[in-house]
Amino acid sequence: MMKDELEQIRAKALNQIENAKNLDALNDIRVSVLGKKGELKDILRSMKDVSPEERPNVGKMVNEVRDAIEETLLDAKKNLEAKAMDAKLAAETIDVTLPAKKHRLGKAHPNFKVLEEVEKIFTGMGYEVVAGPEIEKDYYNFEALNIPANHPAKDEQDTFYITKDILLRTQTSPVQVREMEKGKLPIRMIAPGRVFRSDEVDATHSPSFHQIEGMVIDKNVTFADLKGTLETFAKEFLGKDTKVKFRPHHFPFTEPSAEMDVSCFKCGGRGCRFCKGEGWIEILGCGMVHPHVLEMSGIDPNEYSGFAFGIGLERITLLKYEIDDMRLLYENDVRFLDQF
Ligand code: DAH
Repeated sequence: MMKDELEQIRAKALNQIENAKNLDALNDIRVSVLGKKGELKDILRSMKDVSPEERPNVGKMVNEVRDAIEETLLDAKKNLEAKAMDAKLAAETIDVTLPAKKHRLGKAHPNFKVLEEVEKIFTGMGYEVVAGPEIEKDYYNFEALNIPANHPAKDEQDTFYITKDILLRTQTSPVQVREMEKGKLPIRMIAPGRVFRSDEVDATHSPSFHQIEGMVIDKNVTFADLKGTLETFAKEFLGKDTKVKFRPHHFPFTEPSAEMDVSCFKCGGRGCRFCKGEGWIEILGCGMVHPHVLEMSGIDPNEYSGFAFGIGLERITLLKYEIDDMRLLYENDVRFLDQF
């Protein structure tokens, strides 16, 4: 009678264990069968009703049933845990043979590449690379460069004024003045930097662009030094067959002043679409530093002389890479930048 009951408990428990879907279900079965208020405990409590001769047998059977259920529970637990682990591993599987995600490498901007090249050429000739402020005093941007109060260059149409005396520099030439004022001679400098003009954006204009200023001040510097230096630069930058030509020009801070043309590196000077049939392309302004400019910055023009030049960085970048629209340099479209 008790034996039948025990058999039933065993059969029911084993069946439940077999069908348990997870560890919680297993635990519920353990509690309901083996727990303090479980079915087996009930049986043990009713042992007092069993005859003394039968008791050892029944006791033995209870132990057997408990051991069998415990063992089956343990196996089932292991089984469920192993299945869970398999599922977890499957979910975390990484296919190491898949190609890696592509990372896009940044590229040096063409302006920057050209600037580096220009700096390399001039530092190779003993020049120092210096910098000046983008927010500048009217004095340095105009006054000290021999550009008097009513000069058209000071027109508010061209210059971004911040106050009456403070502006966004319209050229890198004020760095000349700042270097001369330091009073350390001789000077051999280039000063690359951003300049600002209130221009409408089009293929050749932008309100913000870059110039590379150059200046040499020493004893006995002549126009021949200027020509030799800039010709050397042109040949190194554009190729050794490049020819240069100086045309008279006017800048307030140089006397005499000139613009330098280079033979078109596309057609070699025969004339093509690129140089608009001219065979020559203008690349910079230059001249001998005006004695009055030297004087204003505390340099004796009887003892020292010098030359200066100003290169439009975007201009020579467009030429070098044969780009026909300056706006491309500012949009930073990676499809464009990737080409350099
Ligand atoms: N500052 C001039 C400009 O913005 C360029 C220039 C011309 C600079 C002649 C010079 C120079 O140093 O000698 O148009």
